[in-house]
Amino acid sequence: MPILEASHLRKIYSSRFSATQVEALSDVTFQVQPGEFIAIMGESGSGKSTLLNILAGIDRPTAGEVRLNGSSIQKLSKRELAAFRRNHLGFIFQDYCLLDTFNNEDNILLPLVLNGERRSAMTERLSSVARRLDITDLLRKYPYEISGGQKQRVAVARAMITGPAVLLADEPTGALDSKSSEQLLSLFETLNRQGQTIVMVTHSSKAASYASRVLFIQDGRIFHQIFKGDQNRWAFYEKINDTLNRMAGASHA
Ligand SMILES: Nc1ncnc2c1ncn2[C@@H]1O[C@H](COP(=O)(O)OP(=O)(O)OP(=O)(O)O)[C@@H](O)[C@H]1O
Ligand SMILES: [Mg+2]
Repeated sequence: MPILEASHLRKIYSSRFSATQVEALSDVTFQVQPGEFIAIMGESGSGKSTLLNILAGIDRPTAGEVRLNGSSIQKLSKRELAAFRRNHLGFIFQDYCLLDTFNNEDNILLPLVLNGERRSAMTERLSSVARRLDITDLLRKYPYEISGGQKQRVAVARAMITGPAVLLADEPTGALDSKSSEQLLSLFETLNRQGQTIVMVTHSSKAASYASRVLFIQDGRIFHQIFKGDQNRWAFYEKINDTLNRMAGASHA
């Protein structure tokens, strides 16, 4: 059974102040199997963030449905959805979204605190996640005291602390230099090998080449998808670039 299913998602943004409407997603259907690492690519404005936010229940679709482990998330109330998101999904943003008034440890523990978990259970989870992500030495520091790459690792820890079914990331390497990007992508690769399902939006072919499947979106629809299969990362990278070139050709036809 797929872990995540998007069926016929449509999203129309309408402004209260003007008559113009934007169709950010037209008709998006795809499934994510447990243990997959999917990258979503497409030009700026093609609807990638809209799609990810809808998958995460941060935003609601105009039509269509998202199912996580077989249950529709559309039926949940706003409050249920917030708790559901906290328990089942981990979200990573381009700009980290860490709170500077909390130290890194408290940032990571925030989802558990909001769930009202016991301190002892929290500390246990924290030390295991911190070890996996190699950030034990950073826990007592504050976000403004560490580098971008380190901040993103802390943000990954916060996303992983509840043991989410799916990790969703919107341009997670967008603010990182190339070395920190590679480290983050290797970390994603390792987490994925350990069984973590990941869906990542990215502009970068290099970042996407770490994934096992790439979905290309154009004008709010899925244009194409390619699987890595047995190819190595470099061969897959070439194929991703070929597809992007074809897509650019199609949009100017
Ligand atoms: N809250 C909103 N209200 C109105 N229009 C929006 C809103 N959010 C996004 N849009 C529009 O929907 C379309 C898709 O936006 P989206 O942010 O999903 O694109 P994207 O693929 O993530 O782009 P980028 O690569 O630049 O991040 C764009 O035309 C955008 O202007
Ligand atoms: Mg975006």
